[in-house]
This record gives sequence, structure tokens and C-alpha cells, in this order.
Amino acid sequence: MNEPELNPASPGDTGFGQSGLAAQAVDAIENLSGVHPGYRRAHAKGVCCRAIFRPSGLASPFTTAPHLQEQEVPAVVRFSGSSTNPVLADVLSPAKGMAVQFSLPGGGVTNLTGATFPVFFARTPESFLGILRAAHKAQEGRLGPLELIKEITTHFSESRESLFAIKALKPPASYAESRYYCIHAYYFADPEGALWPVKFEWLPDAGVRTLSVPAAAQQPENYLAEELELRFKDAPAVFQLAAIFGGEGDPTDDPTRAWPEDRRRIDLGRLYITGIIEEPAGLVMDPTAIPAGMALTDDPILNFRHDAYNDSYRRRSEGR
Ligand code: HEM
Repeated sequence: MNEPELNPASPGDTGFGQSGLAAQAVDAIENLSGVHPGYRRAHAKGVCCRAIFRPSGLASPFTTAPHLQEQEVPAVVRFSGSSTNPVLADVLSPAKGMAVQFSLPGGGVTNLTGATFPVFFARTPESFLGILRAAHKAQEGRLGPLELIKEITTHFSESRESLFAIKALKPPASYAESRYYCIHAYYFADPEGALWPVKFEWLPDAGVRTLSVPAAAQQPENYLAEELELRFKDAPAVFQLAAIFGGEGDPTDDPTRAWPEDRRRIDLGRLYITGIIEEPAGLVMDPTAIPAGMALTDDPILNFRHDAYNDSYRRRSEGR
């Protein structure tokens, strides 16, 4: 594999007022979906679990990240439905999330957030805002359904693959039987300092299983948390963390585009999730919190999420 070219742009700085734009993005979510005081402005309904990550040791030639070496580390996992509504029935938000916060051996934490769709619908924070504002206009009747489709396909054609993938999602049988894509590219920094573009996926040992329409219709509102609770009485829920290495020409700055299927994969280790816990105070799954041995790419959405998540945290921790 070739050593990737380093992008000279400093991560987190995309050249515009990130904080102002983040507040606008969170406002746009609220305008579209309402405000649920004290809750996350996205993925409001969720369940936290305790877990242990056991690294395979295979990552060592590519990264010095401390949680991916030899030593097992504790982690907190939060599974969630993607809706902003904290009491929506599980079947009504087919897109699910899995956010993992690893405790690092030397102190501190790092986060990895995944979702059950492989690509995101917006390439930049500005297009995220544009899409949400168009959806809001349609909700208020200022744009018809066909005009909305035209607006999105004309101005935001990059969102097509993601919107199709989200539309095709079926309700999962279990949070533990879903595959989660971490979507953004990151860099691994190896012991010599060379950077390797990588994406991550969580693959369930139990396989992927979804519900038929009649089965979904019979599920209680909170079937996913209830199913986890029962599952943990017998055994942990186990996921493999896979790293996928970017090849020549694979974009590192575009979360709307998947990399080709044939890219090299390695098994980074397994996450053993053993029980449900209360949500730890101050939990923010900021995907830009990374340890030494990793670097952020110039993906504008990845970098933008830092301010958006902190803005949402500020609002919900103030009871707004
Ligand atoms: C413009 C891009 C995005 C915006 C503005 C955004 C916004 C948000 C906000 C405001 C929250 C709540 C944060 C909190 O209060 O702690 C959140 C949570 C979440 N988002 Fe995003 N998001 C974006 C992209 C993504 C992408 C690409 C993924 C998929 C990997 C994703 C997956 C999640 C998950 C899994 C959670 C729940 C985290 C938890 O359980 O604490 N988001 N998002």
C-alpha cells in the first residue's frame, strides 16, 4: 500500500465559522423535528451498555493508537434510533446508531460512531443545512413532494445513494444483529509516522437479521432495549471491529461515497457488550475525539460534527 499524501489543511478548520454553522444546523434539526428538552438533538432514544474491547494486535504495524494494541480496554456503548423523538416506537426509525466510547490505557477517551447505512446524505455542512431547510419547507407546505425531490436531486445529487440506502432499511431484529458503518475516513499513523487512510465497521458475530413487516408490526415500542436485556442474561453481544484501507483515488473527504468493496480489511479486535447501564454523566460521542496514532481527515462533515455535538450537548444539559 502506498503512503497517502498528507493534506496540508489543518483538521477541524474548514475556513468558515464552524460554531455559528453548527448552531444553525442544530436549529435546523429543531425546526424540522421539534424540541425535546433535555434530549440529544439527534438519536434521542437510546440505551447505554458496558463493554470490553479486546484488540487482535493486527493493527500495530499501522497505528500506535493505544486502544488498538495488546491491552483490553473498557468501553461504553450507546445504541440508538436516529429520530429526534425520544419516545418514538423503535420500528418507526429503521436507521439505528451504535456509538462507542473507549477508555484509553493512559487516560482519556476516544469515540467511534456508526450507523446502519454505509454513506451519509450530505457532503458538506452547507449541504446538510440546505437539505434540512428544503425538507422543512416541504413540511410547511411551501414545497410539494415532487418539488422537494427535484430540489434535492438538482442541488444535492450526492445524497442519492444515502437516501436510497436509508429508505431500503428494514427494522432490525436486534441492536446486536446489525452492521454499523462508521462512514468517515480517518488516518492511522504508524510507528514511523506514515499515514494510512482507513474506515471502520462493526460486524456482529451473531450475523445481520431484520424483521418481516408482520413481525415488526407486533413489536412493543421499546423492543430493542428489551431484547438486549434478555440477550445479556445468556451471553454478551459481540462485534468485530474491522478497518478498511483506502486505495489509490479513494476519497477521504467525502462521506457520501463508499470505497470499493475489494479494499483490504483487517480485524482490529472484538467488543464484548455485557449489560445495560445508566447513561454516564457528560457522555458526548464526539467522533473527532481521537488518540495519538490516529489523525482526522479533511472530511468537512467529520470535522463539523465536533461543534454540532457540543452544541447539542450544551442545549440538552441546560434542560433546553
Ligand atoms: C452534518 C452532519 C451531522 C450532524 C449535524 C449530526 C448531528 C447530531 C447531533 C446534534 C447529535 C446529538 C449529539 C449529542 O447531543 O450528544 C447526533 C448524534 C448521533 N449521530 Fe450525528 N450528525 C451528523 C452526522 C452523523 C453521521 C455521518 C453519523 C454516522 C456515522 C451520525 C451518527 C450519530 C449517532 C450514532 C449519534 C448518537 C450518539 C450517541 O449515542 O450519543 N451522525 N448527531
